This record gives sequence, C-alpha cells and structure tokens, in this order.
Amino acid sequence: MAQVNFNGVKKSYGEVTVIEKLDLDIENEEFMVLVGPSGCGKSTALRMIAGLEEITDGTVSIGDRVVNDLPPKERDIAMVFQSYALYPHMSVRQNLEFGLRLKKTPQAEIDQRVNKAAEILGITPYLDRRPKHLSGGQRQRVAVGRAIVRNPSVFLFDEPLSNLDAKLRVQMRAEISKLQKRLKTTTVYVTHDQVEAMTMGDRIAILKDGDLQQVGSPLAVYREPANMFVASFIGTPPMNLVPAKITDGGLAIEGKTFNLAVPEQWRSRLAGFEGREVVVGIRPEHLFASPDSVAGEKGSLEVQVEVVEPLGHENIVHGKLGEEFITATMDPQLSPSVGDQATMTVELAGLHLFDAKTEESLAGEAQP
Ligand SMILES: Nc1ncnc2c1ncn2[C@@H]1O[C@H](COP(=O)(O)OP(=O)(O)O)[C@@H](O)[C@H]1O
Ligand SMILES: [Mg+2]
Repeated sequence: MAQVNFNGVKKSYGEVTVIEKLDLDIENEEFMVLVGPSGCGKSTALRMIAGLEEITDGTVSIGDRVVNDLPPKERDIAMVFQSYALYPHMSVRQNLEFGLRLKKTPQAEIDQRVNKAAEILGITPYLDRRPKHLSGGQRQRVAVGRAIVRNPSVFLFDEPLSNLDAKLRVQMRAEISKLQKRLKTTTVYVTHDQVEAMTMGDRIAILKDGDLQQVGSPLAVYREPANMFVASFIGTPPMNLVPAKITDGGLAIEGKTFNLAVPEQWRSRLAGFEGREVVVGIRPEHLFASPDSVAGEKGSLEVQVEVVEPLGHENIVHGKLGEEFITATMDPQLSPSVGDQATMTVELAGLHLFDAKTEESLAGEAQP
C-alpha cells in the first residue's frame, strides 16, 4: 500500500514542454482518475510513475520513496495498457505467471496467486488458451490479472477499456471498480472518457495541456467546476455556456436575448459585479419544458428548437437562443418539437457563473 505524489513535476521532450509543473497527491488506497482530452499529458504523467519516462524536474514519490532514479522493476507498480500487451505465444496461465517467474517466486506461491486472480476475474476456464482464442473482454481480464498477481503497491491503468465495445466497457468499468474496492490497492487510472472518470474515481484530476485544472470527487467537480474548461468537459451533454453581463446592481444576468434573475445563493455576493462580462453556465438538465417542473427559483429562455434526439427515457433538445446553441434534456412527454419556438424554464439554483476573460468560476471570487 502506498501514496503517490507529484511534486513540481516537469516533463519536456527536447525543446517541447508537455507538463510544466504538476503537483498532485494520490492517497493510499485511493482510486484516482487522470482525465483530459487526447494529448494533454495523461499517459506521460502515468509513465513517469511507472519509470517509463524520465522526469525533467521535480520529484515523483511512491510511498515514502522518491523514485525518480529507480528502475521500473524496483517501483512495486503494475501497469495495464490499452493494447493489453499479452504474449501471444504463451497460454493465459503462462502470461499470468511470467512476472512472478522473473522474480523467482516459488512455484507453489505462483500457482496460488494465479489461481486466485483467475478466480476473481472469472478466467479460470481459459487458463490453457492462447490470447488469440479469447474475446477482447477476456484478454483485458488477463491483462488485469497479470497486474493483480504481482500484488503491487500501485496499479497504473492507461485507457484499458478503449478497445472494448460500449457494453463491455460499462461492464469492465464496474468490474475494475469492484476489484479495486476489494484489493484496496492505490490506483491511478488514465482515460479521456469523462463518464469513465466520473463513475470510477474516488477523485478525479482534470488535465488540459499538461496543466492540472481541478482535483476533487466526481460530484464536487460536477457541482462546482473551477473554470469553463472543467464545466464543459465534465457532464453529458455538456454544460451550456452563454455570454452575459451582470446588471441591476448585481441582481440580474443580462444576455443578448434573455434576462435572468441572479439566484439566491449568488445575490448578496455579486453587488460589486455591476457591468461585469460573464459566461452563464446552464446544465442541460436544469432546463425544463414546463415551469411546473421547477419548485424553486426559475427563469425562462426563448429557444428555437432545431434537433430533437429521443433516447426513450429523455429527449435531448438542441436549439438556438439568439445566436447561441443550447442543449436541454427533457421529459419526452413534455418535450418541444423541431421548429418550435419553445419557452424553456431554467432552474436558477443550478446556474454557474464564470468570468468572461479568465474563464474562472466567480464562486471563488465573489464575496459573501
Ligand atoms: N516521445 C515523445 N516525444 C515527443 N513528444 C511526445 C512524446 N510522447 C508524447 N509526446 C507529446 O506529449 C503530449 C502528451 O502526450 P500524452 O501524454 O501521450 O497525452 P495523452 O495520454 O493525454 O493523450 C502530446 O502532445 C504528445 O505529442
Ligand atoms: Mg494517452
């Protein structure tokens, strides 16, 4: 068991700096997800923990040890890749045994660990098969099994589910979460998929261009995104972001084609913000087809409906609010139709406000 710490970590490839300065503390037994768009430096960060990339500056620690100069095999980690990286000419059992044999583990212990991992992962019937005779999901289980048998201090996962179809991905997502809860091994899991991040992480760390944007529990990040990038990255469909201005002495949010009252939780805090250019964040689920659906404070937006996507349990309604695109998720019974000029009710308690220039949430700035 071990915590993992990035302290002022920088990573450059020659002239190009991919990570400027990363500070991140992953707790013992924690499931931490690193999430962000492709190319933001997630794999690079993970590979520095694994010892597969040199660290340009700063330190990475596992447990109480700075591991910058420690070779991968001495770091007590196990990594699972998107590509599975199984040995094709070996049986499943041989694949699972391989790392332990290298470490000269006694055969009785190898058997015991392999059998137990196979049982946990439900791959006992396939132990004598070669990887090419397995389905994608089974191969992924073998790859995970190979990490488990080594009983490491830290699991590292790099987009392990990306090659699986949607249904299997959901299933494996739950299996890996369950497994981690059972083994309690500190885990760093990399994905570009925000749903995977939200559903699996104890906490998630959101990266953009090598910069850490926010770290927190999935719900904290969802409810209180620190900036517009996090706001639009976390949540599907993404949060609507619409330019506006604070007017009426801090009591109104005025856009080109709408006017909303500042919700109660913001009211006493925005007095000094008169005239401030802001961006209003409205989650699609905070827009309703009928005012009756909102119990608390509400406002309204006039939306020209352009596309309606029926998902069965809800409709995703896309339209224009003046020049701005707007997405709402709505009850199919009440949903407007394509071509409608719909009056959508906004649940004001769900509003977010960002500074138009810095793109940071005003929540950190506004004075109660
Ligand atoms: N060996 C390398 N040499 C030069 N640039 C690299 C190398 N590996 C990764 N990069 C660059 O570093 C950035 C981050 O890459 P990576 O960590 O793989 O991103 P992610 O895993 O988030 O998609 C990308 O811009 C990528 O092109
Ligand atoms: Mg990657």
